Amino acid sequence: MKILVINGPNLNMLGTREKEIYGDESYGELVAFIKVTAKKEGVKVKVVQYNCEGKIVTAIQRARGRYDGIIINAGAYTHTSIAILDALRAAEVHAAEVHLSDIYSREEYRRHSYISEYAFASFVGKGKEGYAEALRALKKGAVSR
Ligand code: DQA
Repeated sequence: MKILVINGPNLNMLGTREKEIYGDESYGELVAFIKVTAKKEGVKVKVVQYNCEGKIVTAIQRARGRYDGIIINAGAYTHTSIAILDALRAAEVHAAEVHLSDIYSREEYRRHSYISEYAFASFVGKGKEGYAEALRALKKGAVSR
């Protein structure tokens, strides 16, 4: 099983960015955690991070037929990007949404997620553990689209 993890804008700034919200672990530590978790679960994983919306769209398009699932934390594009939603629909790949923070208990403008209109599950406010849960959920394949 092959899973593509896509992290969006500003996630590369973890560890220095708004620590009171996102904690003090670096992006590198998050990636290491995802890779260790994937290994334990016997799943192949590729982790990418893009600040540009178009690069995220392209990565999703290319995942079609190549990956068994996507885990996506689209950062702020979550709340704005119909293009990313359309790409997910076009790629027809199982997708789980992750957010380190609980977007539903933060500012009003974070409370809508375009990604959740496609994702079969969302893991929010659980920090990096959300990625582990998403990975296990995709592995289980309990939900099909
Ligand atoms: C985030 C939440 C988004 O609202 C924010 O723009 C981010 C990070 C999260 O992981 O909690 O960049 O996706």
